[in-house]
Amino acid sequence: MQGKSEIIQLTQLLKKASHAVALTGAGMSTESGLADFRSPGGLWQGKDPMQLASFQAMQDNYGEFREFYLWRVQKLKEAAPHRGHQILAEWEKEGFLKAVFTQNVDGFHQQAGSKEVLELHGSLHRFSCVKCSASFSPEEFEKDVACAHCNGKLRPGVVLFGEGLPQKPWEEATRHLEQADFFLVVGTSLAVAPVNQLPLFFEGRGPQVLINRESPPLSSLFDLILQGSAGEILSQVNRILKKGSA
Ligand code: APR
Repeated sequence: MQGKSEIIQLTQLLKKASHAVALTGAGMSTESGLADFRSPGGLWQGKDPMQLASFQAMQDNYGEFREFYLWRVQKLKEAAPHRGHQILAEWEKEGFLKAVFTQNVDGFHQQAGSKEVLELHGSLHRFSCVKCSASFSPEEFEKDVACAHCNGKLRPGVVLFGEGLPQKPWEEATRHLEQADFFLVVGTSLAVAPVNQLPLFFEGRGPQVLINRESPPLSSLFDLILQGSAGEILSQVNRILKKGSA
């Protein structure tokens, strides 16, 4: 667990920043009840993501691919944003945070009230036809309808392994980072490119802080690491920020 001094240091950095941005990963949603990917019990434990979440899997193994995303859509219905998501949204409203870049596809930042949310890995709230790209809802995907225009199969609006990232959010994120003077990274193993390059891109532009349950390989890039639960740590920082005692 992190000490009180790291909490105060993070609070001071946040107050001092004029353009702070945050990057979140699956560790931001585990306290909402959604498993992450690489922790014990994570979605990739005992599974091969290439068999479930790759462009090739969608082509060659649509049945299993569809089952996996159907299960994730249903899990999403049982979960909701937690206090940590709400705090990031409050910090945006209060001017402490300019944007949240997220690898998560759950939409929880927006549901918690964040406005400037860049979904770098897409969204599980959007589906489309594999063939003609017509848009569909999660409900239509659940009903296993074929595309009304071309009878194609439906796919989730998430970035699959083997696919490039959606250009617009990526460009907006790098534009933010060019102006940013503080980078807060929360709940990610930084295992997946190109998102894991963002802390490298930001290096030397200002302090960067990591909040994570464990210390991932790229941790040497961070000026401060708070090891523990995202929700708890964000709440502790928020309490001090609101007391104005940092
Ligand atoms: N608080 C803080 N950190 C947490 C918490 C929590 N409550 N729960 C988990 N973590 C940490 C874990 O220790 C882990 O280091 O969050 C990290 C989650 O890492 P991953 O499971 O690898 O998730 P993520 O980094 O978001 O994965 C990136 O990989 O499979 C792809 O597309 C998928 O977007 C995902 C990408």
